[in-house]
Amino acid sequence: MAPESGITVVQHLLSQQLKHGEATGAFTRLLNELIISAKIISREVTKAGLVDILGFTGERNVQGEQVRKLDEFAHDVICHRMAQSRHICVMGSEEDADPIEMPDNVEKGEYVLLFDPLDGSSNIDANVSIGTIFSILRKQSTGVDYKMGDLLQPGYKQVAAGYFVYGASTMMVYTTGNGVSGFTLDPSVGEFLLSHPNIQIPPKGKIFSGNMGYWRYWSPAVKNYVEYLQKPDENKPVYSCRYIGSMVADFHRTLLYGGVFFYPADTKDPQKPHGKLRLLYECNPLAYVAEQAGGAASTGDMRIMEVQPDSLHQRVPIFIGSRHEVELAEKFYAENK
Ligand code: AHG
Ligand code: MN
Ligand code: MN
Ligand code: MN
Repeated sequence: MAPESGITVVQHLLSQQLKHGEATGAFTRLLNELIISAKIISREVTKAGLVDILGFTGERNVQGEQVRKLDEFAHDVICHRMAQSRHICVMGSEEDADPIEMPDNVEKGEYVLLFDPLDGSSNIDANVSIGTIFSILRKQSTGVDYKMGDLLQPGYKQVAAGYFVYGASTMMVYTTGNGVSGFTLDPSVGEFLLSHPNIQIPPKGKIFSGNMGYWRYWSPAVKNYVEYLQKPDENKPVYSCRYIGSMVADFHRTLLYGGVFFYPADTKDPQKPHGKLRLLYECNPLAYVAEQAGGAASTGDMRIMEVQPDSLHQRVPIFIGSRHEVELAEKFYAENK
């Protein structure tokens, strides 16, 4: 078989996978615009050190975080491309306090996009892998304009979700509810080519991934859980600790190698009693991917994708990865009520 004939471009697989409900060109067009956005962001990320696009803009976002130029760049690229798609009704971005509507001269579509334009941005200057996370929902309200409820849907309503990781190579990992596929950008072709068909997360792992520097801020349940993972026991592997500080990178390793990534509630910042990670554009999309790959995602008390959102930038604790390690976290939560 000629090598070229084995190449599957993401758009080809997508058209095969989509359920009837999303088989319309609208969804494919939307995802295509997201793919173009990622190619543009990837190009800027790889040359960030050479042009004046590192560092800070001087503003702070709704999260209270200093906004980096690449955060803003990635946000602007996606907003612009989504308007071109003509199939978005409203968007929610980490970098905008409020829902983002389409410009007046752009017809509104039937989809809702929630996204983290650049995840792990504190690592940009150190050339550590960063990413873009996306979650796609169908608009539920009638009428042309959106209602807040269109954005505040629980994770099990997602139509598609995934991420791009800008690392040694640029990859796209997504699900539309028919398993998880991974694609690697071939810069010489300019296309995302299927490199990881039908990703399955190992049922048990040997890696735990959490910011151990926050140990003193964690609840007894979390401390007991992490101590258990580290306790020598002939029935358990010796776990390694790996923590990159970019959720997309930490999750991508967890998806492929197994184990657990967690960011629990902590007492470090009274403003953020539920931990740092955002439900709508970080936890829900990665939870959908994890579950579709045979893994799990929990707050410790409940399935992430069953949390009923009450605000756009709501934060939740998260344990995500191999089913064994996530269910173990839930056991420690139940025992330490
Ligand atoms: P973002 O760059 O989109 O604001 O997200 C950063 C998040 C996430 O990527 C990572 O897991 C977490 O911040 C790391 O937080 P700590 O530095 O508190 O561990
Ligand atoms: Mn941020
Ligand atoms: Mn993020
Ligand atoms: Mn971000």
